[in-house]
Amino acid sequence: MPRKPSPLSVVLAAEQLPPHLARSIIEEKLRAAILDGSLPTGTAVRQQELATMFGVSRMPVREALRQLEAQGLLAVEQHKGAVVAPLITWDATETYELRILLETEALRQSVPALTEEDFNEADRVIDQMVTEKNYSVMGELNKQFHLALYRKAHNRRLMTLVSVGLDEEERFLRFNLEAMGLGEVSQDDHRELVAAAREGNVDLAVELLTQHLRRGIQAITEYLEKKREK
Ligand code: NI
Repeated sequence: MPRKPSPLSVVLAAEQLPPHLARSIIEEKLRAAILDGSLPTGTAVRQQELATMFGVSRMPVREALRQLEAQGLLAVEQHKGAVVAPLITWDATETYELRILLETEALRQSVPALTEEDFNEADRVIDQMVTEKNYSVMGELNKQFHLALYRKAHNRRLMTLVSVGLDEEERFLRFNLEAMGLGEVSQDDHRELVAAAREGNVDLAVELLTQHLRRGIQAITEYLEKKREK
């Protein structure tokens, strides 16, 4: 009887990768497959299998998996190794708390340096979000929107951390926006945020962003409470 193919080999096509690009390509392929749901929670992600599929040593694979683990997309379980992490758990609210600290600082640094071009881009992304029906695209657009407003922050390390938080939200939005009915609320928040930034009102922009992210915490809390009751 033929052995059932592993989910990894079904979702990712095997190919020969150039060794110097292997880490980033493997990371990106896995990230995309986890985010769009084709590799569901709990799927085992084995180093040796990936190394064989892409014709590389285990070292770049291990590096890629480590990055994904840092982004909260993979979890290392005893005896099982790396598996696709659960979509949302209580520590997501902690991530949001940290995001408030990190993103308000990024916004504070960035707003005074933003140009009309940046605001126009933010507006464009909002318009796209209004008509977008595909929740997985929505997650990506939300990330683009926020980054458009933070992009002039001068602290690059801060921006790296900000990206990690936004990646987590992207993933969360992809799966749960529909269930939570968050779509419409968020565009009002986003518009007010751009308006305050355009006026150069840093304090107001920071206040609005804080409220926006607090609403996220509230939505996640309600969602998890409801799931617990089931
Ligand atoms: Ni948002």
